[in-house]
Amino acid sequence: MVSRVIPVEPFDLVIFGATGDLARRKILPGLYRRHLAGQLPDNARIIGAARSEMDDAGFRDLALKALEEFVAKNKRVQSDIDAFLARLAYVAIDATGEGGWATLKERMQPDVIRAFYFSVAPSLFGDIAERLCLHGIAGPDSRIVVEKPFGRDLATAKALNKILATHFAESQIYRIDHYLGKETVQNLMAVRFANILFEPLWNAQYIDHVQITVAETVGVEGRGSYYDKSGAIRDMVQNHMMQLLCLIAMEPPYHFDPDAVRDEKLKVIRALLPVGPEDIVRGQYAGRKGEGYLKDSENPASRTESYVALKVQVANWRWQGTPFYLRTGKKLRGRASEIAITFKEPPHSIFDDAEGWRENQLVIRLQPDEGMNLKVMIKEPGPGGMRLTQVPLDMSFAEALGDEGTDMPDAYERLIMDVIRGNQTLFMRGDEVEAAWAWTDPIINAWEARTERPQAYDEGSSGPEDALMLMHRDGRRWREIR
Ligand SMILES: NC(=O)c1ccc[n+]([C@@H]2O[C@H](COP(=O)([O-])OP(=O)(O)OC[C@H]3O[C@@H](n4cnc5c(N)ncnc54)[C@H](OP(=O)(O)O)[C@@H]3O)[C@@H](O)[C@H]2O)c1
Repeated sequence: MVSRVIPVEPFDLVIFGATGDLARRKILPGLYRRHLAGQLPDNARIIGAARSEMDDAGFRDLALKALEEFVAKNKRVQSDIDAFLARLAYVAIDATGEGGWATLKERMQPDVIRAFYFSVAPSLFGDIAERLCLHGIAGPDSRIVVEKPFGRDLATAKALNKILATHFAESQIYRIDHYLGKETVQNLMAVRFANILFEPLWNAQYIDHVQITVAETVGVEGRGSYYDKSGAIRDMVQNHMMQLLCLIAMEPPYHFDPDAVRDEKLKVIRALLPVGPEDIVRGQYAGRKGEGYLKDSENPASRTESYVALKVQVANWRWQGTPFYLRTGKKLRGRASEIAITFKEPPHSIFDDAEGWRENQLVIRLQPDEGMNLKVMIKEPGPGGMRLTQVPLDMSFAEALGDEGTDMPDAYERLIMDVIRGNQTLFMRGDEVEAAWAWTDPIINAWEARTERPQAYDEGSSGPEDALMLMHRDGRRWREIR
């Protein structure tokens, strides 16, 4: 299968924070891979901006090192690397000062799409947005890309939205949630809305419950002081997991169009019931000999959760009585992001073998090994009579699609190309982000008003005991984290 690579329109992409970790790890390597795929037109240019003083050659050196570190060896073709580096330029700019903006303006090409990636701390968004407009660098056709975290609560998200809206229209603002750029996440929409098979069953009548899991084996990895102010709810639930829940729970949009999709997601967020203390479990990983989260976060009194599990109800006709269980955590037994949809029992069984029967389950794996697995019942092979057994209809993208499957663009590459195409479908709209915080804030505030500690769980385990109970008490169980 050969995928179609359609070149985008000529553009100038300015990366603010071009010397930072995200630019080096994701943005520059992602752009290089799109160059390699033939998606960048000849006059696509990338201009780095940050405070560090350097010239174009210095920035190309930095980019080369980033490619050597973060692009697979078999993708590093010298002639392509040279051609890619020739697209790069650099302007030293302090976002909070007036120097450098005139140079940036001079260096930009006329009559091409202008996109500005704010890969800097959110406290600089306002400064950059204001100066881009003040200096006549950004116009009504320009696009800005902003990174997470988009606020730390409803008030700060509203303030950020207000600052950006002073200078840019909503149609120009691309709020990145890189989960939405994952192939499987987009495939969720294809699976649901391009097949007749699932949609008739996609409701509380046939679905018993949904589990969404994002499990990590890593801890806070040197980001302890940042993470400690955030925690799993802010870092994962309010954005990524909420977006996954929306894609599972939303009504079919009338068209695969940015606002049609985002309208439907917003309705889901607004339909979420508040979560009471009985429906949430917080955990913190504990290691041997005093190691663990408290050491990693450098805050021995920290009550920040490195794990959270919640039971969430979507109060609308489609989902009445079908809970969504969400869990995410660090230092768990395995690394897995997946959505598991468990169907109900058939209304009547004609078989005597109750023991062999298992629920149908559709598992959508986001990582690792993106793919889908539909568990169905068949007759157990052999002469043992009509005994039942469950088998997986398993599809790994890598296997099913060959090179296309293993060579799928990274979420950032895909999303940056969408920015250039002017397609906002996979980006969060301002009202969506605010609605997500409006639901998350009371959960966080209720916890902060209390004094209890998160439940300790062992590093390498599948999370705190109480999280198991959250499912057991409903007669259900989590899928195993491997
Ligand atoms: N890293 C990730 O994996 C990741 C993941 C998701 C979201 N994000 C978000 O992406 C953004 C960037 O993260 P990062 O990890 O790349 O941060 P970082 O490594 O600290 O880089 C920050 C960048 O901002 C520049 N900068 C700082 N102050 C500036 C100023 N006053 N004017 C102009 N440039 C300035 C820095 O360069 P100079 O010091 O040279 O000015 C540097 O290039 C943050 O909002 C972060 O939350 C990052």
